[in-house]
Amino acid sequence: MRGYAIPGSNRDRKFSEARGDWLCSSLFGFSRFSLFASMIAGLFAFTPVTASADSVNDLAQVCSGCHGEKGVPIDKSIPVIWGQRREYILKELLDFKTGHRKNETMAGIVDSLTKTDMEALATYFSKQQWPKLDQPAAPADVAHQAQEVFSALNCRGCHQDHFQGDYVRPSLRGQQEDYLLKTMTDFHTGERNNYPGMVALMKSLDESQLKPVATYLAGLPPEVPVAGE
Ligand code: HEC
Ligand code: HEC
Repeated sequence: MRGYAIPGSNRDRKFSEARGDWLCSSLFGFSRFSLFASMIAGLFAFTPVTASADSVNDLAQVCSGCHGEKGVPIDKSIPVIWGQRREYILKELLDFKTGHRKNETMAGIVDSLTKTDMEALATYFSKQQWPKLDQPAAPADVAHQAQEVFSALNCRGCHQDHFQGDYVRPSLRGQQEDYLLKTMTDFHTGERNNYPGMVALMKSLDESQLKPVATYLAGLPPEVPVAGE
């Protein structure tokens, strides 16, 4: 590594040693030019990976194969992503990519996506309207069991009053019942461990308490009530 100059410091030293020397000023000029040239080259090199409007639509087509053409997933174990929180979608995509959240299907999907693609996809899906899955409202006794869990563990403290989510806290309203049960069970067993807080909370519950919670949340209509619930 000897002789590998740090451009700024070397240049500055040369500049002060030989101030007024035409050779120095031309060297100085050249290094500035080459820096500029490499910046321009860098810009062009990065252009193709910037997701354009068209490519986002193309990428989203791949997602529709499972998450649904109109946002209704093709299988009950697949979550709704239309209208989900942008930062949450982005975090999950990055977690699937790094393996912090393990799922073979999604790992295969995100493998070829760049961060720019994921940002564009997160923006795209967060702007769609959450679909109506018409899952029935939980019967009173089930709702009661769910409310006991919500107040004991303050789920609303993070997922907000109407479970509409906020920033990286996902919306849970009207999510697929089977998916909710699966992912809460995954937190409970530690299979999903990309957020220690949720793992601790779900581990503190008995597995039998998860189903009423899933049924209740799935039965909430996507629209957030204006006042009260
Ligand atoms: C072959 C089916 C399939 C395709 C195609 C697919 N997904 Fe998924 N996706 C799944 C499954 C299954 C899960 C649930 C994983 C689990 O249970 O942990 C999931 C989970 C997710 C989640 C987490 C949602 C949540 O509530 O935690 C996001 C975000 C997501 N997918 C985005 C996408 C995007 C964006 C695309 C397109 C680039 C895509 N998926 C393509 C099957 C698919
Ligand atoms: C300390 C804040 C906090 C509390 C309290 C909390 N959550 Fe969460 N929850 C989160 C965050 C953050 C995530 C996203 C985790 C991640 O990064 O993947 C999450 C994820 C979830 C998911 C996964 C959603 C999906 O689309 O995959 C479910 C279901 C869930 N929480 C239910 C609950 C329930 C039920 C309770 C109460 C027992 C609860 N949460 C309490 C912060 C919280």
